[in-house]
Amino acid sequence: MGKPTTGTEIVLTGLGGTELLTSRRSAPPTPGPHGVLVRTEAAGVAFAEVQMVHGRYPGQPKVPFVPGYDLVGEIVEVGSAVTSWQVGQRVAAMPVTGAWAEYVEIRDRELVPVPDEVDAVTGVAVVLNGVTAWQLLHRAAKVRRGQTVLVHGVGGGVGTLLAQLAVAAGVRVIGTASAHRHDALRDIGIELIDHRAEDVPSRVAELAPGGVDAIFDPLGPASLDASWQLLAPGGTLVTYGSAATLHDTGPWWLPYLRLVGRLARWELLRLIGRTGGRRARLYYVKSNAQFRTDLAGLLQMVASGQLRPMIARRLPLESAAEALDLHISGARTGRIVLVPGLSPEATEA
Ligand SMILES: NC(=O)c1ccc[n+]([C@@H]2O[C@H](COP(=O)([O-])OP(=O)(O)OC[C@H]3O[C@@H](n4cnc5c(N)ncnc54)[C@H](OP(=O)(O)O)[C@@H]3O)[C@@H](O)[C@H]2O)c1
Repeated sequence: MGKPTTGTEIVLTGLGGTELLTSRRSAPPTPGPHGVLVRTEAAGVAFAEVQMVHGRYPGQPKVPFVPGYDLVGEIVEVGSAVTSWQVGQRVAAMPVTGAWAEYVEIRDRELVPVPDEVDAVTGVAVVLNGVTAWQLLHRAAKVRRGQTVLVHGVGGGVGTLLAQLAVAAGVRVIGTASAHRHDALRDIGIELIDHRAEDVPSRVAELAPGGVDAIFDPLGPASLDASWQLLAPGGTLVTYGSAATLHDTGPWWLPYLRLVGRLARWELLRLIGRTGGRRARLYYVKSNAQFRTDLAGLLQMVASGQLRPMIARRLPLESAAEALDLHISGARTGRIVLVPGLSPEATEA
């Protein structure tokens, strides 16, 4: 398929709610010398977009802008200086914003090839969330076979993949999730705690009396102190989000300031040998060379059937607001994916 004269894009026109997302038609960009024009086949829906709609995502652009963290698509045009990519190749990328559009210009060095065996919807599920999960596990915490980890929000986009990758690496996983998700998660082979009904620290202490070797916490400052207490000597706490602070009324940066304050205190204590080797780290995914290496590896794992991302629902691009509402509702477990040109009848996963 060549380049048409217009394509659909979803624009966030104000801050406060998904009703401020509108669909419009505009001319696809003409790529600059190092640009590649990608026709989007699938774009992910993530918690980051929930935060952006509320103006609570660090460093987000001023409205109006096109959200959309990640995509898989086909190259339809390349810039004059692009030598490593050709029209017709399938690629994945994480532009952070802009992916909720039929045509997206991406810089050539940001792209990763997608194997033929991987369909776009499954592929996009491992771009932001898969790389985050992989790097949390293998780069930030460096878990080893036989260890035990605690995954907060194990039913979330990152959590489900993190649990699958950990189990594949021979790691025991204890995860927290609302009860309605437990049936969908049980097959992964993890031990589940309902964080709404159970006392998480005492349950974890029962399940792992010696403490856990790593904790992955996307919730924010409120849960960090309790998490720190659950670490085994030499263990690592990785904080990587603030999902529990979405409805805070203060400035968006306040939870991050609290979080960094805690980390600084623990690092100081670690340096003077007062933490029993425990450490705490902040993780943030970036589209760099390491990201591309890890994404290529994850796409291979999907191609070979070693990793099976959970897909909750696919929806047409024009249904971005509905998709985000569904994500916020938490009613489904697995990634919600926007598919340009999808007929309304084909939306079930
Ligand atoms: N640092 C990075 O590079 C990076 C990358 C990706 C994502 N993130 C961040 O990671 C977080 C999770 O992302 P995601 O895409 O996995 O989000 P998601 O799919 O929306 O999942 C969030 C999970 O958090 C759980 N949760 C929310 N509030 C909770 C609370 N008060 N107590 C316990 N659990 C709670 C929910 O569990 P239940 O519904 O089961 O209750 C849900 O499963 C977000 O803050 C996101 O911004 C960071």
